[in-house]
Amino acid sequence: MTQTRVLGQLLAGVLALAGAAQAQQPAPLITNVQGRHTTSLNGRWQIIIDPYENGYYDYRHEPLASGYFANARPASPGDLVEYDFDTSEQLNVPGDWNSQDERLLFYEGTIWYKKSFDYSRQGSARVFVYFGAANYEADVYLNGQKLGRHEGGFTPFNFEVTGLVREKDNFLIVKVDNKRRRDGVPTLNTDWWNYGGLTRDVALVDVPAMFVQDCFLQLKKGTAGEVAGWVRLNGASSRQQVVIEIPEAGIRQTVTTNEEGFAPVDFTARLQPWSPESPKLYQVTVSAGADSLTDRIGFRTIQTRGTDILLNGRPVFLRGISIHEEAPLRGGRAFSEDDARLLLGWAKELGCNFVRLAHYPHNEHMTRIADEMGLMVWSEIPVYWTILWDDPQTFENARRQLEENITRDKNRASIILWSVANETPRGDARLKFLKGLIDHARQLDPTRLLTAANERRYADPRTQVVDDPLGDDLDVLGCNEYVGWYDGPPDKADRLSWKVPLDKPLVMSELGAGALFGNHGDRGARWTEEYQADVYEHQITMLRNIPSLRGMSPWILADFRSPRRPLPRIQDFYNRKRLISNRGERKQAFYVLQRFYQNLERGRR
Ligand code: GCU
Repeated sequence: MTQTRVLGQLLAGVLALAGAAQAQQPAPLITNVQGRHTTSLNGRWQIIIDPYENGYYDYRHEPLASGYFANARPASPGDLVEYDFDTSEQLNVPGDWNSQDERLLFYEGTIWYKKSFDYSRQGSARVFVYFGAANYEADVYLNGQKLGRHEGGFTPFNFEVTGLVREKDNFLIVKVDNKRRRDGVPTLNTDWWNYGGLTRDVALVDVPAMFVQDCFLQLKKGTAGEVAGWVRLNGASSRQQVVIEIPEAGIRQTVTTNEEGFAPVDFTARLQPWSPESPKLYQVTVSAGADSLTDRIGFRTIQTRGTDILLNGRPVFLRGISIHEEAPLRGGRAFSEDDARLLLGWAKELGCNFVRLAHYPHNEHMTRIADEMGLMVWSEIPVYWTILWDDPQTFENARRQLEENITRDKNRASIILWSVANETPRGDARLKFLKGLIDHARQLDPTRLLTAANERRYADPRTQVVDDPLGDDLDVLGCNEYVGWYDGPPDKADRLSWKVPLDKPLVMSELGAGALFGNHGDRGARWTEEYQADVYEHQITMLRNIPSLRGMSPWILADFRSPRRPLPRIQDFYNRKRLISNRGERKQAFYVLQRFYQNLERGRR
């Protein structure tokens, strides 16, 4: 084979891959799927566990032309097909695989999922397949055709399948790979379990040829009655009329889009502001052509003024708790409305008006129930610890996850803070990386506050300083500290003072200590409830004396699994810093914090 021909083929190969890669991006994200006509694909899915990715690569590790995504079957007795979804085992979707099958508890690799379904098109012109999330990388195929790939375990994605879906015998196949990667977001090391799988709802979404793809409706910053935002149509080929209605407020606004289906929105309205005390949600309908989309939206403003956080123009203290997206009683990834009501109900019982959803976007039930219950939310993307700051792909990945998070939840009144990072090391590359994310978030959403959970440093043995250079670009300074647990005995907190040079609000985004429920002993004995309660007592005294403190979200509400916690009979691969055990038992520290929050609520600091 001549050299030119080899080069020609290589080039063709690269172009095909590039073309395929481009073509394989998910379609623009459809929002408010709950308000649309959908067909759920949740339930039992057949699976093939494929640690060697045998269904994707050949023995030369070249991608197969016909892998497991073809769902092949022997056409005759002589045919050789070495896999068969239909006789394979099954898993629940939504659900992580680790907590459904003991053999998979520590499994990191590929599992193929298949769902067969018939589909009668309800007169709708277009159909999309929507995934609430899949951890970590998902390659999606319908009827043997590649739809595309999505990377990132905690944000939604969708593909258009209008031309592919048929009346009978459709098979949707998803290769899910949760292998950790150095260039990933998150990267190799996390203090949470790497739950893999189709962890959230999967559904078919029916829409007219032209439909309301997305809209953003919130109060303009600093105004009590000016609703500003935009509407975006999909499938518009000319200027279109869009009607926005808020019947309860007597609002009926008509706007006209440009040729691409985009229209800015700006109108005045007398709306009761959303707040934890009265979490008012309005029915809002956006209609265009044959499509009409309804959502429940609260309207409120959130700003800072010096070291104050202002909700609807009034100073507020964030009485919070951190939460991982884990189903406390059942174990495994939380995904349902009931899971959300349980976790957020416990936070309310604790006296919270705020929750930090750590360290990644939680499922949409969490933010919608927070809207309903009146809990303000810190929403974060998994830029956690030490990711590859210099890698453009890693930045693109983080930027996309941020965009998907904001796109999905931008109409949730409960969300007041977008967090771009947790405990990341100071340095120029990191600063540039995070500034890039902050700029992007501000472009996407001019109405909310930007923060990050940073680390403090010692100026001298008795003085803590919160002066991470990233603070200059943030609206609210987040700080994690473990005085009394990783840093000295509980009473060390009594001897510390805090310096926060910037004139900005401080939120202590993590503090706490480990304890095993029911393990009692001396206050100085680690892992006892008494030790944990003692840490909280001293912390509360210390925090009261930090002038710019405007909130806190101790680590952590409920139990969560962690591969970094092997201590037998105490941790057993659980991080034990929670206030409520995985049987719902409240520890002494729960009541220490509850008392403090009740006093705060009564205006006694
Ligand atoms: C860190 C980190 C958490 C972790 C916690 C802990 O601050 O942000 O993800 O679980 O400390 O050590 O318990």
